Amino acid sequence: MKEQLIKQAIAILNENFQEGGFTIPCKGLYPFQWKWDSGFIAIGQAHYDIEKAKTEIATLLDAQWENGFIPHIIFHNESDTYFPGADVHRSDLSPLASKKYKSTGMTQPPVTGFVLEEMYRIAEDKEDLLQYIATQIDKVYDNHAYFYTHRDVNNEGLAFIYHNWESGTDNSPIWDDIWKTMNPPDYTFERRDTTHVDASQRPTKREYDHYLNIIEIAKEHNYDDAKIAAHSPFLVLDPLFNAMLIKSNESLIKLYRLLGNTSKVAQLEAWQKKSIKGFNDKLWDDKLNAYVHYDLRKDAPIRFVTSSSFSAFYAGIPSQERADLLLQTMMGKFGGEELYLCASFDPNSDRFDPKKYWRGPVWINMNWILYNGLKRYGFNDVAQRVKEDSIALIEKNGFFEYFNPIKKVNETENVGYGGNNFSWSAALLIDLLK
Ligand code: DGY
Repeated sequence: MKEQLIKQAIAILNENFQEGGFTIPCKGLYPFQWKWDSGFIAIGQAHYDIEKAKTEIATLLDAQWENGFIPHIIFHNESDTYFPGADVHRSDLSPLASKKYKSTGMTQPPVTGFVLEEMYRIAEDKEDLLQYIATQIDKVYDNHAYFYTHRDVNNEGLAFIYHNWESGTDNSPIWDDIWKTMNPPDYTFERRDTTHVDASQRPTKREYDHYLNIIEIAKEHNYDDAKIAAHSPFLVLDPLFNAMLIKSNESLIKLYRLLGNTSKVAQLEAWQKKSIKGFNDKLWDDKLNAYVHYDLRKDAPIRFVTSSSFSAFYAGIPSQERADLLLQTMMGKFGGEELYLCASFDPNSDRFDPKKYWRGPVWINMNWILYNGLKRYGFNDVAQRVKEDSIALIEKNGFFEYFNPIKKVNETENVGYGGNNFSWSAALLIDLLK
């Protein structure tokens, strides 16, 4: 069974690999290179073709802007199966954008630092991989410097996101109250996602109006971060995004030490200390016993528990005492026998939807982050359950983008949703099984 699943996963990744040296998340629905997808994909590739993994990350980092920014989509190729494409995003409006690649002007969770460390863990030839890392690591450092210089408006070690697509959790109910503060035009455009996937599993038209509206505002300011910070109606501190930054800081520190190049370590350690403190001070909610999002526009927390709340385990952010509380919250709300771990949104909330993109379904990348985080704190039984649930969902349904967390509907129905033959589901399953 295990060997068969790994074989299938490798076939999916090979099928999604493109000539330009990158892997699409899935055919039709996502036909370009996505930042955090590429990171997770490289972890899977490292198990069977380390050269591909190296290429995946090198291609991503090649699209870096002059200020260290790394975009969330790189439009290597022309495709009419995706909206909004390069002509909407117009990265050329920024004087700092890559001249080589068209891209978006927004980013995604900074996973690349820890991805390099995972590749090092997996690689058989450590010396060769270290040599490769030496050629790439400064670009990742520059990306972190970008976040601390241009995205930390309150100087508290936390980077803001200005668009829901930067969070990676695109249509989470977390954003619902922000949409209520906006009144975008009823744009005319042709969606492509709903020609690939049933509309009941995707965001609504009105949500897309909001998404486009924020892009239009950022474009009016030529993707200038200071102006975005001043004018974007969406300005949020996201626990997942910042946990990925913190975990990646930690990896960069370890890797620079392995390389014997310590000139940037003191700066990384200073960022790390400030970020962990900022995260614990600002994002911990004493009543919910969980980390939550923070709306910088309203200057108030967004008080819901999501799978992003638990990403802090992976980055080693909570004290052991706080980690115990966070685990209790997770198991109390998300851990019932009737549920697969781990729903993306609080299953007890009236905003929970088990079928709709980030409003409830289980995601394999979040489960991978959770599995590794739980192990870090010695919560081995729950980690094991997360792993088994991930494998069971894929075995039963296929390599889908997301899955219904409610077990009872599973007996007859296929409960895999969104894109099929989805790259990071394949890549991270390989890592979980190995
Ligand atoms: C989409 O088009 O839904 C993408 O996930 C945005 O990054």
